[in-house]
Amino acid sequence: MNPKKKIILTGDRPTGKLHIGHYVGSLQRRVLLQEDPSFDKIFIMIADAQALTDNADNPDKLRENVLEVTLDYLAAGLDPTKVNIFIQSQVPELTELAFYFMNLTTVSRVQRNPTVKTEIQMRNFEANIPLGFFCYPVSQASDIALFHGTIVPVGEDQKPMIELTNEIIRRFNSVYGEVLDECEILLPDNIVCMRLPGTDGKAKMSKSLGNCIYLSDPKEVVEKKIKSMYTDPEHLKVSDPGHLEGNAVFTYLDAFCKDEHFERYWPEYKNLQELKDHYTRGGLGDMKCKKFLNQIMQEWLEPIRQRRHYWEQHIPEVYQILRQGTETARLVGQQTIAQVRAAMRINYLDDEELQKSQIDKYTTTK
Ligand code: TRP
Repeated sequence: MNPKKKIILTGDRPTGKLHIGHYVGSLQRRVLLQEDPSFDKIFIMIADAQALTDNADNPDKLRENVLEVTLDYLAAGLDPTKVNIFIQSQVPELTELAFYFMNLTTVSRVQRNPTVKTEIQMRNFEANIPLGFFCYPVSQASDIALFHGTIVPVGEDQKPMIELTNEIIRRFNSVYGEVLDECEILLPDNIVCMRLPGTDGKAKMSKSLGNCIYLSDPKEVVEKKIKSMYTDPEHLKVSDPGHLEGNAVFTYLDAFCKDEHFERYWPEYKNLQELKDHYTRGGLGDMKCKKFLNQIMQEWLEPIRQRRHYWEQHIPEVYQILRQGTETARLVGQQTIAQVRAAMRINYLDDEELQKSQIDKYTTTK
């Protein structure tokens, strides 16, 4: 255990292509973090085993999306020479550690986890919770601990997972000896970015609501989605005063617009505040704001689209990246598991001292 090391571990379930909510909420941050030399190692995990816990009957969905998510990572600018991208299910040491971790927490502890509670409701699992799904917070603790992750950049909804992880790690260390490192959550630094609403103004972008703008959407699709975005239902005539609250166009502008965009596309205004003032005063139409937002979004998305196109033409290399990343993850995992087994006193076959003492115990001397 080396508490001074700064190791990032984070991941995504491969249940669909990534959207701009993922981008502002986490991907953009990771791209910055990979340039920061103060981190010793960055692991990014495609959490297919966790995704199976509520998609057990649909493995083909995950099979497709492991590649899609990897393409989105590379498109967003993650650099495989700086971050280690790997596939969870291909690192069996994760499953082993999760199994030992299950002894260090309780059913009632997981039952109290608010994120799990909401997810159970959303999936209509109340009457019949799959056991694997119920245990996923424990498996997530193992994801972090196996790599000695000390910094976990995730959304607010993952807070209870990080708390449970640290509880389990403390319990492990106090029962078996100091082997594992506690971790810290790293939340998005911008409130708008923490929960970007869908294009319909609803709480969160989600595939099932059909309100996402995907990183891989072509230009025309993005434009169409922006044109039909939810704004202010009371803003009927251009001259009417508009409201900003719950107005998705302005929430997106908060997340994506910089002063320089006004210089480039709408020099009548200096900054977003001026635009907002005009909108709330009345006399500014939604379509103009949407056109501006579209220009900004296209500017953000174009380099992502181009990088994606490049990698789409180099799929064997993408698989090579995954293969290498997974190999590295396994090596680290095997080292940690060796330490864990020794600490837990279950390293019988590798423990010469144990064998010797037992030989001494039973050898009869004449
Ligand atoms: N639960 C995370 C999500 O749904 C994905 C995940 C799995 C994860 N294991 C992790 C995130 C470990 C951080 C650390 O987005």
